[in-house]
Amino acid sequence: MTHTTEPAPRAGRGKGLHRRKFLGGMLGAGLAATAAGGTAIAFLTDAGKQKAGAATTTLTIPDLLEGTTSDGTTTFTLEARTGTAEVISGVTSSTMGYNQSFLGPTMKWTRGDTVLLNITNSLGADTTVHFHGAHVPAKMDGGPQVAFADGKTWSPTFTVKDDAKTLWYHPHALGTTAEQAVHGLAGMIIVEDDSTTSAALPSDYGVDDIPIILQCLAADSSGDIKYNLTGYLSSGLSYPVLCNGTNVDDTTLSFTATKTRTRFRLLNASPSDIITVQRSDGGPMTQIATDQGYLAEAAEVTSIRLVAGARAEMVMDLSADVTLQAVVTTGWVRGGSGTYDFLTVTASGSDTPDSLPSTLNTIDRYDTSDFTARTITLGQSGTTMLINGSAGTSMSSMAMISTTLGSKEIWTIKNNTQLEHSFHLHDVPYQLISINGEDPTGVELGWYDTYEVVGGGSIEIAMEFTDFSDDTYMYMLHCHLLQHEDEGMMASLMVTES
Ligand code: C2O
Ligand code: CU
Ligand code: CU
Repeated sequence: MTHTTEPAPRAGRGKGLHRRKFLGGMLGAGLAATAAGGTAIAFLTDAGKQKAGAATTTLTIPDLLEGTTSDGTTTFTLEARTGTAEVISGVTSSTMGYNQSFLGPTMKWTRGDTVLLNITNSLGADTTVHFHGAHVPAKMDGGPQVAFADGKTWSPTFTVKDDAKTLWYHPHALGTTAEQAVHGLAGMIIVEDDSTTSAALPSDYGVDDIPIILQCLAADSSGDIKYNLTGYLSSGLSYPVLCNGTNVDDTTLSFTATKTRTRFRLLNASPSDIITVQRSDGGPMTQIATDQGYLAEAAEVTSIRLVAGARAEMVMDLSADVTLQAVVTTGWVRGGSGTYDFLTVTASGSDTPDSLPSTLNTIDRYDTSDFTARTITLGQSGTTMLINGSAGTSMSSMAMISTTLGSKEIWTIKNNTQLEHSFHLHDVPYQLISINGEDPTGVELGWYDTYEVVGGGSIEIAMEFTDFSDDTYMYMLHCHLLQHEDEGMMASLMVTES
């Protein structure tokens, strides 16, 4: 992928500042963690000039959520609850998670299976759970219309129609998505299928198929995690970067690869920042999938740029150790840019992987000449965010797009603001037809559900509304910068029978 904007250089000033700031706390915490969990302490070369990345901690792999299968239905149980975690090393934050204190377990769904989720809300506030990127009926999609109260259990059920891909789940109630997601309500979903490509790729979860959930958050020195404009304008903030829930500001996580070829599923679960994943040695990664599944063919890339909400999958054949970096590019009204060595992968496999399939997927590019055209305008009035002129802060105030089952459409997503946005559509995947007037190339020819729209820029996307219609329940389309979504940059999509 080519981008005109270079990732921001390492923000030495910011990182140095908060490393110094938390030094006292880190020493004590490091000692405690060494006894408890094998964390080595960063050593200081001289006062205030300690070596970055000297601490190492093993990468946490989120648990796989066990489902129970009977009569052809696999049932999963989730509870959204509150807890505490250290998003800043040595400082306790109030957090939220699914079945745990922060983040949630990974679910595996299999194409063709029926799944049932029993999701209990123990947050003390309304919530929903949205299956980001899944092609499911609107009523099961977890949008704001199906928000449910504390103490209640919501039980969506559907047949998995998606091909193999990486999805995620997170809250989606009106006005509280950012608050709940930044406190830790997010988890990965792996969809498996029986394609020959899936059979040829590493798929042993936690062994050679590794989930990587990256988040760049904002918190004050007491550990209070910020999620809105008021919070972001308060002073004394730091911008912790987390990988699978562990702070990597001054720590490089480690993972020992026992297989030569290892697959990484990358998710940017940040509320707003762009995260670019690259190798510290500038070497190649083999990208195999975008948001919505396999590319037509594997692509050798040196960086993978993920806007908030986006995913990608890549494999590396490891003959030597590799360190992966997350380059954070700030996406909203705050600082927090920088380059973080978040994971060192130690090569210890001795097997010889087969060559990757020369073709991973068949992607028929849409001929959009007879597609229905629409324009979706992203706008702003002060701190109120708009789509097509309406602030989607309530179901009645948001713009509604009406279409019918079977429609094929081409949308121009026009960014009339100077801010960066991340355009997400529920229900069906889309193809990129143009990006700021240019034809897509390389991995841009894959399937997406979340894509960057730069300030003043535009993208054209094409999609086909297959399978599901409803005249009560709607899908959503919105900016995936969660504060923008909560501030109104969201519209609804009603897909009716005719
Ligand atoms: Cu990831 Cu409408 O959301
Ligand atoms: Cu979504
Ligand atoms: Cu936005």
